[in-house]
Amino acid sequence: MASLIKVKNLTKKFGDLVAVNNISFEIQEKEIFGLLGPNGAGKTTIINMLSCYLEPTSGEAWIADKSIIKEPQEVKKIIGLVPQEIALYPNLTAIEHLKFFGRIHNIPSKKLEEKCKELLNLVRLYERRNDLVKIYSGGMKRRLNIACGLLNDPKFLMMDEPTLGVDPQSRELIFENIFKIRERGVAILYTTHYLEEAERLCDRINIIDEGKSLALGSLDELLTRLEAKIEIKPTKAGRLEQLFIQLTGKRLRD
Ligand SMILES: Nc1ncnc2c1ncn2[C@@H]1O[C@H](COP(=O)(O)OP(=O)(O)O)[C@@H](O)[C@H]1O
Ligand SMILES: [Mg+2]
Repeated sequence: MASLIKVKNLTKKFGDLVAVNNISFEIQEKEIFGLLGPNGAGKTTIINMLSCYLEPTSGEAWIADKSIIKEPQEVKKIIGLVPQEIALYPNLTAIEHLKFFGRIHNIPSKKLEEKCKELLNLVRLYERRNDLVKIYSGGMKRRLNIACGLLNDPKFLMMDEPTLGVDPQSRELIFENIFKIRERGVAILYTTHYLEEAERLCDRINIIDEGKSLALGSLDELLTRLEAKIEIKPTKAGRLEQLFIQLTGKRLRD
């Protein structure tokens, strides 16, 4: 199967700092692809380039054969973004947000009505659709952000640490949403610094640190690299943590 997303030698420098260093990977339809790395690894910078907010210093990427450099307007039509920083208006309701962003995407009003209902149900905010966002919990805001990211029926959804600051119940709902979104054929790029999330969600994981890709593969592929080196067999997440330490000399969490 041809890859929906192709990233080739993507690099971003900020002055002397190489935030993203020669990163390459491909993502298939219906694949949940994880970027796993600590703060400062370069995850958000990769997402900013793939969503055409930031121009790469070098390298290229294609989303459904559209170049992020030569065809950013085309790329923006087929991607969805759930940014790390929640971008919502405290004095608007959930439904007002979806209508506002829906108009930006030029969705005709009849279709937008249906889309709002479908997405509010998906993220389980339909009952709360007329409440102002300022009274929402962190998890509810995040779920609304996810609904906003899906308005244009993207082929490729990027989610940047979507469980940060979220209560456990919302986190479960977000995971449930991600699997449902995948069933629609969407490819998902999911960034996290939580090993357990990478283990639970991702078909393949790209471990990155200081802008570099250190290892890429399914969890089992990554773990077989370790097999020979460890005697006790902790949980998969525990073993992934050991692999991370081996690759970087660091722990993911303090
Ligand atoms: N606009 C910017 N200007 C200068 N440095 C930046 C900018 N954005 C990110 N960086 C730096 O690039 C590195 C990667 O950052 P980021 O992509 O946000 O990492 P992550 O999302 O994995 O935490 C960090 O060292 C960060 O300080
Ligand atoms: Mg980030």
